[in-house]
Amino acid sequence: MKINKSGAKFSAIVKIGEDLREESRKTGKEFLYLNRGINRVVNIDLSEIIPMIDFNSDTLQYYPHSKGMFLLRKAINNEFFAEKTSEENIYVTAGGMNALSLVFQTLEIENVYTHSFYWGAYSNALKIAEKNQLFYDDFEDLRNNYKKYDNSAVIICDPNNPTGSKADDKMLFEVLDLFSKQNTTVIWDGPYRRLFYDNTDILYQKLLTYENVIITESFSKSIGLSGQRIGFMHCKNPEFNEEFAVRLLYSGNGINAFAQILVEKILSTPEGKKAAANFKEKTVNDIGKNIKLLKEKGLLTEEFYNNETPVGIFVIVNKSYNELKTKNIGSVPLNYFTKRTDFDVENYSRICVSVPERDFKKYFAKF
Ligand SMILES: Cc1ncc(COP(=O)(O)O)c(C=O)c1O
Repeated sequence: MKINKSGAKFSAIVKIGEDLREESRKTGKEFLYLNRGINRVVNIDLSEIIPMIDFNSDTLQYYPHSKGMFLLRKAINNEFFAEKTSEENIYVTAGGMNALSLVFQTLEIENVYTHSFYWGAYSNALKIAEKNQLFYDDFEDLRNNYKKYDNSAVIICDPNNPTGSKADDKMLFEVLDLFSKQNTTVIWDGPYRRLFYDNTDILYQKLLTYENVIITESFSKSIGLSGQRIGFMHCKNPEFNEEFAVRLLYSGNGINAFAQILVEKILSTPEGKKAAANFKEKTVNDIGKNIKLLKEKGLLTEEFYNNETPVGIFVIVNKSYNELKTKNIGSVPLNYFTKRTDFDVENYSRICVSVPERDFKKYFAKF
């Protein structure tokens, strides 16, 4: 059997989690698993939503439309775009990863720029799509040197994974204004933003004014449903959408109907909205307290947050993976997220701060 090897690697972060759990099993040590990329302050409470779903229905049991169920696309249009876009521009995907992979495959472009601190999966998905990954320093670099990014694609992830920093929206729109005057495609991949905002956030509506912006979104983080594998892609370019739709169809033949109905109910019913709001409020509250504790203990790497605010759900701490492990805290070494060499990457790690405050406090009392 000859294999078409992409050169992409299986997620190393998954391996870290497996190793820690194995060590825990062998030694009986309890770890705080801050290596994980999920919100674990609370689960979203679905108890009032599940009774609304008719499991004995055609809608749930038969193939959904490969673009996604119309009612969900309508709910997304309402929630994110205040009904200012067309449902035709929205494609339901199996999470943000699926959307990103298909976007990378669909774009005929050589170079894709990511932040110098980037989500490692971008590298692997770009490798599979045979695109070069290049880096920008930060949003100031994008603004000041915008010409450098002509004829390329640029991924914007804000709040950022791994740093958890949030840039000023004004700065982001300055960058978009410059890119809209040249041939730069922007992939707006911000699955953490809507954890901190509800539908009064007008950012997505403002993104509609840019023809060169492709949005990839996820319900994994903002409403905590990473297990449902659901997200969406939005683009206004009909030619792009036509090719994307074909690739979406033949990659999965539609997205799980239950997940679509569930998210549609969360976005569009009073019970669903209440569950999402409670989830966000509790999660953001503990994230804020956990970041405050890190600041007080001098563990947050303030030098990486120049003009930006660390909001989570991740932050970078000035402790190595091993140092944290000796205190029974799981993390991911920072070298999984950057190729920067202007500082000693070995001394830093990414931790997820979206865990209950009491657990966080208990484990960080050891510092
Ligand atoms: C920056 C970023 N984009 C997209 C995703 C995709 O998430 P999912 O595939 O769970 O929707 C993640 C998940 O960790 C992420 O960190």
